[in-house]
Amino acid sequence: MDSIPWTTVSYLLVPELVKVLAILYSAYYVLSAVYIVTLSPLAGIPGPKRRKFSYLPCAFASLKGRESYAVRDLHDKYGPVVRVSPEMVSFIGPTAWKDIYGYPAVKKFKKSGYLQLRPGVPDVLTANGVDHARQRAALNRAFSEKALREQEHHLQGHIDLFMERMEQRCDQVEPINIVQWFEFLAFDIIGTLAFSSSFHCLENQRYHPWVTLLMNFFKSVHYFLTAKKFGILFPILIIFGPIRDLIKGREHFRRSFQKVQERLKMPDNDRRHDFWTYISRQNQEKQGSMSIREMEVNAAILIPAGSDTIATTLAGCCYLLLKNPNTLARLRIELTEKFTSESEITMVNLSGLPYIKAVVNEGLRMYPPLSGDLRREVPPEGATISGQFIPGGVIVSVYALAAYDSVSNFAQPYRFTPERWLTTDERPDWTKNDHLEVCQPFSVGPRNCIGMNLAYLETKLILARLFFRLNLELMDDAFEIGKQRVFIMREKPPLRVRLSHRM
Ligand code: HEM
Repeated sequence: MDSIPWTTVSYLLVPELVKVLAILYSAYYVLSAVYIVTLSPLAGIPGPKRRKFSYLPCAFASLKGRESYAVRDLHDKYGPVVRVSPEMVSFIGPTAWKDIYGYPAVKKFKKSGYLQLRPGVPDVLTANGVDHARQRAALNRAFSEKALREQEHHLQGHIDLFMERMEQRCDQVEPINIVQWFEFLAFDIIGTLAFSSSFHCLENQRYHPWVTLLMNFFKSVHYFLTAKKFGILFPILIIFGPIRDLIKGREHFRRSFQKVQERLKMPDNDRRHDFWTYISRQNQEKQGSMSIREMEVNAAILIPAGSDTIATTLAGCCYLLLKNPNTLARLRIELTEKFTSESEITMVNLSGLPYIKAVVNEGLRMYPPLSGDLRREVPPEGATISGQFIPGGVIVSVYALAAYDSVSNFAQPYRFTPERWLTTDERPDWTKNDHLEVCQPFSVGPRNCIGMNLAYLETKLILARLFFRLNLELMDDAFEIGKQRVFIMREKPPLRVRLSHRM
């Protein structure tokens, strides 16, 4: 009898092998699910079972841009500590920020899931330890009070043009989408501060192609990070996803690197005062503070970090003010009591005004630009967060939106009430038990937002000048904040307003 060739044997064995592998995989999946729900050290942490043993609910909500809202709903149901996925726990209690991101935790909790922009070149967002401290010291100089004062003329110059564009649209029947104009303004400002070279969006009255590219890139990075949660399906999802935008993102890095090179070749100028003016000084005084390659990657971070966040804050504050005419009226009283003309609205003159700062704080609470997770990995020995012991290796985070929308932290969280942020005597009684320390839109500790003071200055200047000079009428509710989607940054629908002169 002829023997059966080996190729035929192996062909016959393939289905059997697949069956065995499928059984083994299913057994592994079921056993690990039982372990995760019953015996794992995280088993006791509340949360729905489907999230405890699968990434899929989290991944699907992320793909829809609704994960921050889903986590908020979980906290509403399960309390201040919630298991949001097999490896991750979310906290919204008053001490959570300090326990995870403050001193001394920051030395032990490493960032998790962040991508280094250029392998082998530390950048401020992902570097750890000494590299981060060194780069942060150099950058701090560019964001100091002194630097801000010296940079104010750049901001005011761009706001002048923004106001001119708004003037040109006064009394026209067709409403404008002011979100777009806030984006033009924020990008032009950061272009000037980061490269001494504006994007000229306000001048040309349209998005610079780089800005469009960057906005699509955010979305594709969000998709990439979400697709990773689908495990073996990752390559397929990436191929059929917005791969082109992801690849095009390289153009952002190429352009940023080139702009830094161009900027460093510019001759000295007393009025320039962009970020590199200060970083170069730091380099002269303390050699090796930031190498040119590090400058390049940090420039690629500063552009998105300092633009869309600002445009989002402006859009949120503007929408909330227009929805709450009494609050807007109180803001106008503060402005008109202090200023007789718009030219008096400066950084120094705004610094003593409590209400506009309270408006921005409340806008950031109800509409945080970064509303999702800031992931950190618990050190191997474990750590106590909000009174709860969490074993090493677990990923933890405060979800900003969930924390700020929670009735356990803020009375009537969906009511826009800047008065919460005033001194104790001026706060309404019903807000006096609010945990204001929970609202940390810029994060806390040594890895908090380096641009925080710039962000306050910029948003206050723009809002003050806009509402001092013009009337804005909200034309529809397309901007409704609760319905928006988040793909790292918020996807902002049109905020349609009609403009008219106040005086
Ligand atoms: C309203 C506006 C802004 C908000 C809400 C905001 C929020 C944040 C948050 C939450 C972080 C921590 C990120 C993390 O831990 O992964 C951060 C970091 C950072 N932000 Fe901002 N940001 C804003 C504006 C700006 C501006 C204007 C700049 C600069 C031009 C900037 C530059 C940075 C940088 C460089 C970091 C990394 C800091 C480090 O790791 O040491 N941000 N920001």
